[in-house]
Amino acid sequence: MSTPVKGNQDFFYNNRFIHDFRQASPYIHHFNGKTLVLAISSHVLVSDKLAALAADILLLTSLGMRLVITHGCSQFIRTIADCHNAISIDKNSVTDEAALRLVKQACGIARFDLEAALSMIPTQVMDHSVPNVRISSGNFLRAKPLGVINGIDMGYSGSVRKVDAAAIEEHLACNQLVLISPIGHSLSGQSYRLPVNEVAQAVSEAINAEKLIFLGTQQGILDEQQQTISKLNCIEIRQLLARNITDKRQTKLLQTAVHVLEHGVQRVHVLSGLHDGSLLLELFTREGSGTSMAKAPFMRIRPAENKDIGEILQLIAPLEAAGILLPRDSEYMENHIHEFSVLEQDCYVYGCVALHVYPQERAGELACLIVSPNARTRGYGELLLSHVIKQAQELQLQVLFALSTNTGDWFIERGFTSATLTQLPLKRQQQYTSNKRQSKIFRRQL
Ligand code: ACO
Repeated sequence: MSTPVKGNQDFFYNNRFIHDFRQASPYIHHFNGKTLVLAISSHVLVSDKLAALAADILLLTSLGMRLVITHGCSQFIRTIADCHNAISIDKNSVTDEAALRLVKQACGIARFDLEAALSMIPTQVMDHSVPNVRISSGNFLRAKPLGVINGIDMGYSGSVRKVDAAAIEEHLACNQLVLISPIGHSLSGQSYRLPVNEVAQAVSEAINAEKLIFLGTQQGILDEQQQTISKLNCIEIRQLLARNITDKRQTKLLQTAVHVLEHGVQRVHVLSGLHDGSLLLELFTREGSGTSMAKAPFMRIRPAENKDIGEILQLIAPLEAAGILLPRDSEYMENHIHEFSVLEQDCYVYGCVALHVYPQERAGELACLIVSPNARTRGYGELLLSHVIKQAQELQLQVLFALSTNTGDWFIERGFTSATLTQLPLKRQQQYTSNKRQSKIFRRQL
């Protein structure tokens, strides 16, 4: 029997798969054991995309993520109201007894639909004896009435008074998925309708979640041109709010995001729950699928570690092949890793730089400055340069050198001037002569 020959198409898909899977691996590693709160809009719950979303949620639990789900119920309220010719209620209206009954019914249906979807055996599970993901719900929320606002008694509309974080933690520790509906109970035993955003905010802060993820109908936060903004930090969110360009719902999401980010939650994501796979794309790819928000700017520069060597060598490889940078192998990197700093976003290295110190001459050499091609011209090169200048100043060096074959102008534009071989530290002069690269020499007084 002859061995089947794989077509080009198969190889393309295989390579693609290998690339994507490798790209996802740092995230898979990072999220293991982390707590995520998902706030799912009722528009998603009533859609035909619920089954696919539930399968992705189950995949996250199988990768070791601890999940809390909160959900909306407005679409269920509308349907029940239509069936009974009753008056539907909106989020901001008074909740009287009849409306509260409607909310309870809607939450019940939403919960059962979610539980059913999450009880399906995902197609990726081959062993059907694998136990169900256990879902727990309960009285995790203590509520208080909104009371009288502008002379109007808000009835059974309430706000979150307390979250029983210890109880949620107990369930998560038993590998259970926690499902929380937007109804809370008061100390006097009365139930109150709660805004979904507020529930998501209070829960994610109380349990110190890594992420709060809103799954709604829009792809993310939109700018003036209705384009999705992929990343925002708290300063940018405030600027966006000040420009008053977002609709009421997005404004509420942005306000919630700022609050939770300033109270310990690491990231807030706004995604479409109606796009198949958006949750996986957001969590496991560099590009994401919606808007990702963090307290501080996403990039940071930190000292390089041995675990970064692979990524630094990947950055160097094409430049080494083009003769722009000196060859460096993993042995060299292991011995000099303490001289390197990396520019990191999430779990990925987007740039690096090294500082070699010549203590006797009180001089430093900036070397191996690289910004990944997909992150260039955003000022990161300059950030890495400033970082090295600061390091050199802290070491009380007096001069910084840079040797380059074709980035001279970049250094000149940033305060360096041309220098001669004799101005280099003696040891460096010898290396320069022996490697025959004829790099141009630049220096900057510190
Ligand atoms: N010569 C002159 N200007 C350049 C060069 C160059 N070789 N490369 C980029 N620039 C300009 C860009 O055109 C851009 O100019 P603009 O703002 O007018 O559009 C500006 O530099 C961008 O500046 P930053 O955003 O601060 O820098 P960036 O993050 O893009 O990184 C860097 C600059 C590190 C040079 C990047 O282009 C890179 O990695 N290049 C390949 C590696 C390299 O040559 N490294 C230097 C080796 S020498 C040494 O390490 C000592």
